[in-house]
Amino acid sequence: MKNTVATIKQQKENNDKITMLTAYDYSTAKLMDESGINMLLVGDSLGMVMLGYEDTISVTMEDMIHHTAAVARGAKNAMVVADMPFMSYQTSVYDAVVNAGRLMKEGRCNAVKLEGGASVCPQIKAITEASIPVVAHLGLTPQSINAFGGFKVQGKSEEAARKILEEAMAVEEAGAFALVLECVPARLAQLISEKLTLPTIGIGAGAGCDGQVLVYQDMLALFSDFKPKFVKHFADAGNVMKEGFAKYIQEVKDGSFPAEEHTFKIDDDVIKKLY
Ligand code: KIV
Repeated sequence: MKNTVATIKQQKENNDKITMLTAYDYSTAKLMDESGINMLLVGDSLGMVMLGYEDTISVTMEDMIHHTAAVARGAKNAMVVADMPFMSYQTSVYDAVVNAGRLMKEGRCNAVKLEGGASVCPQIKAITEASIPVVAHLGLTPQSINAFGGFKVQGKSEEAARKILEEAMAVEEAGAFALVLECVPARLAQLISEKLTLPTIGIGAGAGCDGQVLVYQDMLALFSDFKPKFVKHFADAGNVMKEGFAKYIQEVKDGSFPAEEHTFKIDDDVIKKLY
């Protein structure tokens, strides 16, 4: 069944947890789609896990469109959400609508995600009014890394927690249909999930959210630069891949690959004529 804004909202009403993973390419998106994932997020985390940047700041609209289009081709049933990269929406409401439109027209996503609260509510309203569904993102918002001074848990003091709660209400009011909560205390995320009618999707925000998202390189142990506390390894794909690469290198070197069954034949007569 195709996942849509309506089915995602319905899942919250049915107390059916929403599953989301990041994806950045066709083959992986197809595997996740076939596994039954509800939502695929083409996160600007691609700057770190695919392109090797130290943060998400340098990711461009072209990067996002390129990867979103690949993911959309692999997703039959999953809803594809594309991140709006740094400075593609903060600059003006006009820029936000134009760039959200490009992600949908050229990338073929079903929704866009942007970071921030009250300051981006005019953008959320305008994009939603242009018939492009919006996922909001609060808590640790990686595009604000320079303002935060590092990847830190957000909303621990009363003042900070209240601000996140108020911003969550503001983005819902502005028209966001879902909300990613990143690195906030579990009890705050649960409170927000109870107070809002829109579904919350947590990452480092505990089990009280209406759904969960992880970066797939993290949950498959493919990314070894660092491991945040909230990450669980669901498979050790990094080591499986390394074993495969090592085996390939060994077999090429000792001549056991390619074997007879991997090669194409030609008539002896034809070959003789070439000598
Ligand atoms: O870019 C991303 O992958 C994200 C998730 C961490 C939610 O925004």
